[in-house]
Amino acid sequence: MTTAKLIIGNWKMNSLKADSAARAIFFADLASGLKSKAFDMVLCPPATMIETVVGAIKSSPVACGGQDCHFETAGAYTGDISAAMLKDLGCTYVILGHSERRQYHKEPSDLVAKKAVSALAAGLIAVVCVGETDAERSAGKANDVVADQLKNSLPAGAKPDNTVIAYEPVWAIGTGKVASTDDILQMHAHIRGLAGAGFKILYGGSVKASNAAEILHLANVDGVLVGGASLKNDEFKAIALAA
Ligand code: PGA
Repeated sequence: MTTAKLIIGNWKMNSLKADSAARAIFFADLASGLKSKAFDMVLCPPATMIETVVGAIKSSPVACGGQDCHFETAGAYTGDISAAMLKDLGCTYVILGHSERRQYHKEPSDLVAKKAVSALAAGLIAVVCVGETDAERSAGKANDVVADQLKNSLPAGAKPDNTVIAYEPVWAIGTGKVASTDDILQMHAHIRGLAGAGFKILYGGSVKASNAAEILHLANVDGVLVGGASLKNDEFKAIALAA
């Protein structure tokens, strides 16, 4: 594992051709112009924009990732995209088990694990997301929920060089309610204990320029997974530079 912080931008279902290309070029130029490498940046655009982004970041240190994949390599799965297809387009990462997939597409952890197996087989790095809801935290179940998600979502072949863990408390995603530093420290230590040394553990949930430095310098925080702020060049640049 490198010590460089991993900064992932999850564009979710946002961006068309023109703004995708412009944003990717902006970050390719930023990363190419830095003398020291304090961060690794990954842009995860919607599937329709992967080719555009891969073209724009070519010959820069920035990488591209998908936001989901199917667990099969190919077949009769209308509307789905396989890990092999993402790899073929030039992706090196794929986000799996994001809370919006778990919530809106009813994806359970065992399905996330199957997708992760497929991602690893395709040579992608899987970014496996876990995180408790507000109700689960209020009920004192956050540690158990995250432990259960980790146990059932990580594939048997998960290793620090092919799998990244992202802790994203559901109540902090897109809400502006960032977890407290104590909560992040506690949960990342809990995940470190379960996953073992070496794995990169990212925090996600309302990360922005104003809180990135504090979060990125906490123990066991190896990077951030950023949604809304990754669509704003100045915000995402400041988050990366905070690393
Ligand atoms: P947010 O989203 O930064 O907009 O809270 C994070 C995520 O969903 O990965």
